[in-house]
Amino acid sequence: MRKVLVTGSLGQIGSELVPALRKRYGDANVVASDVRMMPAGSIGAEGPFEYIDCTDMRQIQEAIRKHRIDTIYHLAAILSAVAEEKPHIAWSVNMGGLYRILEVARQNGCAVFMPSSIGAFGPTTPRDRTPQDTIQRPTTMYGVTKVAGELLCDYYHLRFGLDTRGVRFPGLISNVALPGGGTTDYAVEIFYEAIRHRHYTCFLKPETEQDMLYMPDAIQAILNLMEADPARLKHRNSFNVTNMTLTPAILAEEIRRHIPGFTIDYEIDPVRQAIADSWPNSLDDSAARQEWDWSPEFDFETMTRDMIEKLSRKIKRAEE
Ligand code: NAD
Ligand code: SER
Repeated sequence: MRKVLVTGSLGQIGSELVPALRKRYGDANVVASDVRMMPAGSIGAEGPFEYIDCTDMRQIQEAIRKHRIDTIYHLAAILSAVAEEKPHIAWSVNMGGLYRILEVARQNGCAVFMPSSIGAFGPTTPRDRTPQDTIQRPTTMYGVTKVAGELLCDYYHLRFGLDTRGVRFPGLISNVALPGGGTTDYAVEIFYEAIRHRHYTCFLKPETEQDMLYMPDAIQAILNLMEADPARLKHRNSFNVTNMTLTPAILAEEIRRHIPGFTIDYEIDPVRQAIADSWPNSLDDSAARQEWDWSPEFDFETMTRDMIEKLSRKIKRAEE
């Protein structure tokens, strides 16, 4: 049975990854952690929690030894929009944190999962069906840390034999936790605003194309990649994964089929628009399909229906 540590576990992905890992490996075998303290009664309270700042080697080392951890899911990071506001902090957390996680993993023989992003690509990358192996010259601090992170994880695998694996996530759409300051956040916010107010003001232009993935598929990707047969993996850090290409206008149209009268207008945020314009329109995820049978379940229509059903129930409960 694996003994698992999740860093940055109170964020958008961790809020759903921790319960999924606990279901698989048992509550006591999955240690959640974050630089924030866990609010009472929150998701994840059924198992162990440690306060860990991923830039503090001692805190990571103590938790790994105390809980005899063999696998680390390293989610702690600063996302793209916040990283452009605070590039020095993004470098410190995204690179400094990853380096320390890899070093502790090397000393203790742990496997490491590290999520990369579409942000690892840049304006000179082929934009449509972006290949697995291609030009990566990002123009954002977030992207710089993601490319460097992919390379560092591969280095630790090649040089020290560490079992490092990762995916390049597109925008993630979820109904459990709000996103933490990214460029794709509109694709989550739009659902909350549509259900509450039947109106959303979007910070990206209506025609901005980006790939998205529904969180249940993203969680399945993490679980499946980490359990994949290593002999089949030609790549490690990181695999393109995706399931739909959206624009704000297309998503608004689909939401309107469920919530008649929903309207959208646009107040463009130049910083986030520039980030989005430097990223791919869509990804080619065939390497993930070939090497570890990546096969997402939700499509655009089933994701939209499921989001609206689940969020409507959640918002209604919160208002009662
Ligand atoms: P998030 O912002 O929702 O959560 C990140 C968590 O990290 C937060 O709970 C935060 O408190 C914690 N954190 C920040 N600094 C820390 C530190 N110094 N030490 C420990 N914890 C710290 O992010 P997320 O969406 O859950 O993303 C997790 C990972 O997945 C990140 O590497 C991100 O780049 C990547 N990713 C996310 C998306 C997405 O759409 N959500 C897409 C691509 C890649
Ligand atoms: N959703 C993430 C962001 O916008 C993509 O990595 O930062």
